[in-house]
Amino acid sequence: MSAQFLKPQIADSFSRAAESYDSVAQLQRRIGHNLLAGLDHETVPVVMDLGCGTGYFAPLLTEQFRPQQLICLDLAQGMLEYAKQTRATPNTLWLCGDAEALPLADNSVDLIFSSLAIQWCENLPALFSEVARVLKPGGRFVFSTLGPETLFELRDAWSVVDQFQHVNRFISFDTLQQQATNYLTQLNLREAPEVLLYDQLRELTTELKGIGAHNISAGRQSGLTGKARITAFKQAYEKFRGAEGKLPATYQVFYGEYING
Ligand SMILES: C[S@@+](CC[C@H](N)C(=O)[O-])C[C@H]1O[C@@H](n2cnc3c(N)ncnc32)[C@H](O)[C@@H]1O
Repeated sequence: MSAQFLKPQIADSFSRAAESYDSVAQLQRRIGHNLLAGLDHETVPVVMDLGCGTGYFAPLLTEQFRPQQLICLDLAQGMLEYAKQTRATPNTLWLCGDAEALPLADNSVDLIFSSLAIQWCENLPALFSEVARVLKPGGRFVFSTLGPETLFELRDAWSVVDQFQHVNRFISFDTLQQQATNYLTQLNLREAPEVLLYDQLRELTTELKGIGAHNISAGRQSGLTGKARITAFKQAYEKFRGAEGKLPATYQVFYGEYING
């Protein structure tokens, strides 16, 4: 088990980002929509959005699956409060809980949708075991998550300045596959990178802060960042500026699908 992410800090960071999240979540939207697009429009009795954040996908899940019950679960109470106020979907249970210890009965969910949330889990085997436990026979788990190449430009630029960990570390495709094997037999995993382009580095760092996904890892540097260090960091990032004049930020995105039984 990796202790690099600290749950109270994760919950706190996302709770504080609830108000700003939707305005800066362009990539999160695109990835969640990709995940939904892989699923048919059909009636599914019990659907869960695992790590639902601001609840953006609640109306879309409702429209696509017309569930008798939609369970929107998140670790961050602040996210749920915001979601409840802004997304009035019918038959919805807003639940504060941990994906690694789901407060749900065995064999109770038909579809678990989870977009860009499980990369924050500390113990993936626990998560996969919980998913296998709560899924009904024939139930489905679809997710997106991030791999270790995510924001490699940011990590590289900071490495010129100091040796602190400035970018969250996520696990590799092979490790993800391995950690799932005991619980989710025949997990179908694929990779699809996304590259966002910016005119200025500040746009990227503002977005990361607004999402609440700026570095939360235990090894991150604390304290203020000096002006000279910021200047050196910006200069180091400039080497990635492409021929079109933009600064790239790469996300290594993994999409997974599992059918129970
Ligand atoms: C990047 S946001 C994604 C939110 C939403 N799925 C979306 O695509 O817009 C990640 C969310 O996962 C939640 N999260 C992180 N760790 C979690 C855990 N162990 N259990 C449940 N939710 C968790 C965070 O609180 C946050 O709301």
